[in-house]
Amino acid sequence: KAMINSLNTNLDIQKSETSKIENVDFENLAFGRTFTDHMFVCDFIDGKWQQPKIMPYQAMTFEPSARVFHYGQAVFEGMKAYKDNAGKIWLFRPEANHKRINISSARLAMPEFPKDYFFAGLETLLKMDKEWIQPGIGNSLYIRPFVIATEPAISASPASTYRFMIICSPAKAYYSGKVRVLFAEKYSRSADGGVGFAKASGNYAAQFYPTSLAQEKGYQQIIWTDAHTHEYLEEAGTMNIFFRIDDRLVTAPTSDRILDGITRKSIIQLAEDNGVTVEIRRVPVTEIKEAARNGSLKEIFGAGTAAVVSPISAFEHGNEVFEIPDLENSYASKFKKQLQDIQHNLSEDKHGWRHEV
Ligand code: COI
Repeated sequence: KAMINSLNTNLDIQKSETSKIENVDFENLAFGRTFTDHMFVCDFIDGKWQQPKIMPYQAMTFEPSARVFHYGQAVFEGMKAYKDNAGKIWLFRPEANHKRINISSARLAMPEFPKDYFFAGLETLLKMDKEWIQPGIGNSLYIRPFVIATEPAISASPASTYRFMIICSPAKAYYSGKVRVLFAEKYSRSADGGVGFAKASGNYAAQFYPTSLAQEKGYQQIIWTDAHTHEYLEEAGTMNIFFRIDDRLVTAPTSDRILDGITRKSIIQLAEDNGVTVEIRRVPVTEIKEAARNGSLKEIFGAGTAAVVSPISAFEHGNEVFEIPDLENSYASKFKKQLQDIQHNLSEDKHGWRHEV
């Protein structure tokens, strides 16, 4: 066991004796199925975070009574690391992920994770597994920090012990083709005062069934509408949503029902940098259908860490299907390129979003 010092945080490091990397086909990666050689682990016991560790990626054992299995007391993050052409490793706005996992944790009555541990774990892990990050636009290492309630006790109350972990998975695009979506008319993702803004694991599980119904009809995702009236468009399951009406970009404001996406806020900033008017306001379903009918709806696209920027080619609502014609020089392709150029250290980073590892 070696001890290293990163950001003044000591980590216990147990290096894997072998690497699985030789068996990985980096050109054909299904999202989130291949994991790097190491993982970061830190337990919360007796009211404090214990010695953080890096160890070989491996299965873990928990008692069947661990609270996470019963009440879903769990939160997660999604972030990516990129390798530039000189071999340097970059994270994108990682402070925002650290902040958000703690916002999520607070809502789920879980302890916040210290920033120095988060960064020491992340940076050390990325340095150890850097061979797993492929250079080139479209390649990244998807990073999944998460926290679970480990205490073996099935009373419905917050646990007294937790495990914070980071695992990493080499990734290409989350959606390969065009994405077709259904606007939600019956099911809801989140409600006022609920946990929609948090990256709570249960928010995702709750979408699986309605999304599978949408998939049976040929749609990859649902764009969720407000739970009260189903009249306003909010977000999709894996991404925030933007609508281009003529030359304006429209997106719903964040709220306690909507995830405060880091790609979302970056796209808003890039659009403004490009002189595009961004309207952050409620988005009525009726307005989007009317804009699709009269031709002023030019684009719909999703934005998220895994999904990056994903154009939406069609939507269905009220048994009507609207196809959105392909557009040259779309905002989706333009802002996606600008975003990826910043992420891959190919362009100036005037907002200070890149973080070198
Ligand atoms: C991400 O974009 O990183 C997410 O967390 C969405 C996830 C469901 C893949």
